[in-house]
Order: sequence, then structure tokens, then C-alpha cells
Amino acid sequence: MLALASDHGGFELKNEIKKYLDEKGIEYRDFGCYTAESCDYPDMAKLACDAVVSGECEKALLFCGTGIGISMAANKVKGIRAAACSDYFSAKYTRAHNDANALCLGGRVVGPGLAVELVDVFLNTPFEGGRHQKRIDKVMALEK
Ligand code: RB5
Repeated sequence: MLALASDHGGFELKNEIKKYLDEKGIEYRDFGCYTAESCDYPDMAKLACDAVVSGECEKALLFCGTGIGISMAANKVKGIRAAACSDYFSAKYTRAHNDANALCLGGRVVGPGLAVELVDVFLNTPFEGGRHQKRIDKVMALEK
């Protein structure tokens, strides 16, 4: 189960990704927004990120205009490692090396075709562990 959230700037791209997830039979919960009306990304980021931290959802896919604002909000939620990505390499290695649990995409930055590739590689790349684990442990210790 994935947690999805967006503001108005990421609303259309989130809808494109929902179509892709539907085709693939991947389950998700959409925490809003539900219209293209202007709204504030921290509100929806919090709902989706809380669902990841509680274990209700495995990972979050978050969308705003740039992917950056919603990633900043998401990274304030304890337990979240969110990465704003607009290239394939970053979307892959934020899983492999950073064990990211939230991917943030910019609806005004990436087109739907690239976004699908980014989501796909993000969802299908495992964390490598090993030397990266102690770095993640140090990242998470910064929350304390
Ligand atoms: C909204 O206009 C825009 O600022 C927001 O979607 C996002 O890009 C912020 O980082």
C-alpha cells in the first residue's frame, strides 16, 4: 500500500501516476488534495507521511509544483526520508543508498512519462544496506 499526496501544483501528475498504479494493480491511498484548487502542501504531506510512519503504508509518493516544498515538509516528519528526484539515477540510488521511503516529484518539472519511470525504479529498487546502514542510522539520529 502506497500513500499518495499532492498540492494543486502536483495534482495532475499525481492523477497520471494513479492511472499507472491502477494499470499495475498497485494499491494506494490518496490523502489529497482532491481538486486543482490552491492548497498548502504541508497539510497533505503530513497525512501521507503519518501513514508511512504508522506502517499503514509502505512508502509515499508526493507531488507539488517542484517536488521540493513537499519534500521539505515530509522530511520534518520523524521516520521519513524523502527525496525530490527528477532523474532516473537519483530515484534509483535514493532507494539503494538512502533507503528513502518517500519520492517527491514536481508536476511543473517532470512530464508523466518520466514520472512513471521514476516511480517504477523507486518502487523496485531495494536498499543495499551494508555500509549505507550506518549512514542512515546517523541520519535518523539527527531527529533526536
Ligand atoms: C505552489 O504554487 C508551489 O509553490 C508548490 O506546489 C511547490 O512547488 C512548492 O515547493
